[in-house]
Amino acid sequence: MAGQISQRFIDDLLARTDIVDVVSERVQLKKSGRNHSGLCPFHQENSPSFTVSHDKQFYHCFGCGAHGNALRFLMEYDNLRFPEAVEQLASRAGMQVEREGGDDPGAHQRRQKREEGVNLLELASRFFRERLALGGGRQAREYLERRGLTPEVIRDFGIGYAEDEWEALKRYLLQQGISEAVQVEYGLLVHREESGRTYDRFRDRVMFPIRDWKGRTIAFGGRVLGDAKPKYLNSPETPVFHKGRELYGLFEARQANRQLSRLLVVEGYMDVVALAQFGIRNACATLGTALTSDHLQRLFRLVDEVVFCFDGDNAGRQAARRSLQTALPAMIDGRQVRFLFLPEGEDPDTLVRREGREAFEDRVTCASPLSEFLFEQAAEGRDLKQVEGRERFVTAVLDALKRLPEGVLKSLLLKELSVRSGIEQSHFADWLSTHAKPAPSVDDGGYEALMVSAESDAEAGSAMAAAADRDINRPQRGFAASRAGTATLALSLPARILHLLLHEPGLAETLPETLDWCPPEVPDGRLCRDVVQLLRAGRYRSPQVLLAHFHGSADGERLDQLARRELAIPREVRASELESWVRHLQRESERLTPAEEYRQLLAKSRQPGALSAEEKQRLRELIGKLTAGS
Ligand code: GTP
Ligand code: MN
Repeated sequence: MAGQISQRFIDDLLARTDIVDVVSERVQLKKSGRNHSGLCPFHQENSPSFTVSHDKQFYHCFGCGAHGNALRFLMEYDNLRFPEAVEQLASRAGMQVEREGGDDPGAHQRRQKREEGVNLLELASRFFRERLALGGGRQAREYLERRGLTPEVIRDFGIGYAEDEWEALKRYLLQQGISEAVQVEYGLLVHREESGRTYDRFRDRVMFPIRDWKGRTIAFGGRVLGDAKPKYLNSPETPVFHKGRELYGLFEARQANRQLSRLLVVEGYMDVVALAQFGIRNACATLGTALTSDHLQRLFRLVDEVVFCFDGDNAGRQAARRSLQTALPAMIDGRQVRFLFLPEGEDPDTLVRREGREAFEDRVTCASPLSEFLFEQAAEGRDLKQVEGRERFVTAVLDALKRLPEGVLKSLLLKELSVRSGIEQSHFADWLSTHAKPAPSVDDGGYEALMVSAESDAEAGSAMAAAADRDINRPQRGFAASRAGTATLALSLPARILHLLLHEPGLAETLPETLDWCPPEVPDGRLCRDVVQLLRAGRYRSPQVLLAHFHGSADGERLDQLARRELAIPREVRASELESWVRHLQRESERLTPAEEYRQLLAKSRQPGALSAEEKQRLRELIGKLTAGS
């Protein structure tokens, strides 16, 4: 059987191929500026929106969003599988395909080793799961129960326990014929240089297996049961585990969803697990490191939309800024990134347990689009009424835009920047082209290129240093919450709608005829209804009319407050944002109230065994919620 095609070969092949030639052999292209364009072969069209970039070795269609490198093009156009596309491209370039275990004996060895390692880690994972179930695992079971984990979610995530012993796993694996040296290599044993002794790395910890895309265990994260340090211990880098590339929970998310369209990126193991337990099965976590472009590459291969969750404290804001910088070069058209800031002192784990699934999903819906966060962050701490403040604001935005690939998003942001700064757009174009760095390529095979460009960037460099620092010595949480704005980021949906309408009252015309979508009992819900009615009745186009109408009342103050808040959503996407919020509220209003849900679950619970564990948990929560409210 033929082995896998080596990544090195693929890189080589792509380096020797010109995508313009490959596409030209199949599609009629015309040179226009730095790009070539033509009619898109992947959808029906009469005017060309399909472009091929020689510089980036990438094709992209602005009409249907098709994009990729030469290999992807062949796969799509000639309907080939990946190895077939490689063969085809190789024969075109006069190259012989190199397969692991074929021509390269080293590759064969590496593959064998990889399998050996994965088997070993699989054995260890099973060992930890068994220990959790046995007598010695009682404290760990109690710990997990205290944290609210159900047996189902413990099973789904393969959570286990490493006993408080120095050689439990080592002895077990030795019995299975696995040498100490191999156990050390895969990070399960620690080797003490001075004494030559080896012992179990993970002791008295809850064990989270980290799995690759096929579900094979490639590493572990272990959490102490108490307050000992370090709180989490990860496997070291091994032949099968590279922390900066892997995301915890990705396999489980794919397992749970036939079709993933959006992924949430959270900070911790427990966050992923808690969200899953509450039915939000599309979260994954970086492993205590800052987001890398490898992570993003991996995420965007699976979905087009990624939502990052951050704590609302300073450390969270800082992590968000770093993630923004990392995300910018990956923002080719069709991809979306949002930023979700949680209230101070909460993480997704605590929040979803306190507020429940729907409320958390609302927060996700309200998460700031990249554009909004970008403008907001560029404006932070600057007085935009002053020329100097505006100048710095513009520079900050342009610096970010330099990192964006060409495309619709970039044009929209430039236009928006022009509106906000009052500077003509043509000036930016000059500025960008005189200062431009070549945009990194973000094709499917080219993440190396991305890494290099990220590393050469001073900002990303310090981000990595900070990430490494954070890994060893996590910054203290909750220190002086200096940013007053953070709390207001978490607006309810009706408040967001009000905010938008205050800036662009004309959008009221696009709202559904009846007001059923806007529940009057949620925060700002009633006011939102009043405002929409007023705007509709008067066909008002000016926010001044609104503010005057409500002047002197509590509603008026609220509107004033919202009006002063800057709106960072580019004009072109406001209508579609509004529509998606309304749709979300509509779905929401079809849901049960907590009291109704409680009555239904209670009735069901009278039949023995009728409630699932999740429902039981939900019932307990509802009881908590309802009694707290009374
Ligand atoms: P819980 O206290 O179990 O809820 O964890 P948490 O996820 O809320 O903790 P925190 O926000 O402090 O950490 C988030 C993530 O950072 C964790 O899931 C780990 O991946 C990582 N992390 C936290 N503490 C350490 C540590 O001491 N060492 C390492 N290597 N990683 C850590
Ligand atoms: Mn936590």
